[in-house]
Amino acid sequence: RAAVSKLTTGSKAFDELLGGGLESQSITEFFGEFGSCKTQVCFQLAVNATLPEEKGGLDSDVIIIDTENTFRPERITQMCNYLGVDPDETLKRIHIARAFNSQHQVLLVDKALELAKDIKVRLMIVDSLTSHFRSEYLGRGALAERQQILNRHMHDLLNFATVNNAVIAVTNQVASKPDAFFGDPTRPIGGHVVGHTATFRIYLRKGKAGKRIARLIDSPNMPEGEAVFMVTENGITD
Ligand code: GTP
Ligand code: MG
Repeated sequence: RAAVSKLTTGSKAFDELLGGGLESQSITEFFGEFGSCKTQVCFQLAVNATLPEEKGGLDSDVIIIDTENTFRPERITQMCNYLGVDPDETLKRIHIARAFNSQHQVLLVDKALELAKDIKVRLMIVDSLTSHFRSEYLGRGALAERQQILNRHMHDLLNFATVNNAVIAVTNQVASKPDAFFGDPTRPIGGHVVGHTATFRIYLRKGKAGKRIARLIDSPNMPEGEAVFMVTENGITD
């Protein structure tokens, strides 16, 4: 079994919270309200993964499963310019797979496994993990099936992480009104299925004066805690 690698977030404080960065061979979940910078963090991770390992990268291509049509190449270009890397070369290494519904989303992980046989892919992002599931499986009657399929999807992602020594980053919203599953509006969607399979769960929220706060929640080997970071024109920084 290959040694675990760490992927930098771009912020020292954020990396330290995670024990050096996002770990390969596991799933890291970012959850938070709309506008809490989940997608921005994903963009930065995508750029960073293409960097050499001595710069905190994985020297690899990236697959983004985009369920909300939020990929913005211009934003990737901005981040590349700050880092002094070629935006076009970087964009060529970031493969966007649009998922039209939850079934398609599940299928795209199989396609990703195929692609990763030919190209080194050590970061896969699913942004958002739960949006399709949430809108397609409505009400209590659909909950058991939703959780079952979501559970299998999570295990497919974990398998990708293991086979490719890859980092998996997924995003998840918090329930804005009580979910059928959880009465508590601050809980992430997907309940125990997502919670038990994600190794690292990070709650993102806005802080004062444009600052952003990441809180690490139930990690197996790191203490709970918070890190403050910024999202600027340059991307994710301290
Ligand atoms: P949902 O997907 O709607 O749940 O939200 P999200 O958590 O993915 O939020 P997202 O990552 O889209 O964050 C949006 C925020 O990122 C904006 O409110 C801005 O504060 C910040 N942001 C996005 N683009 C830029 C940029 O080019 N420059 C700067 N300075 N900030 C940006
Ligand atoms: Mg988003």
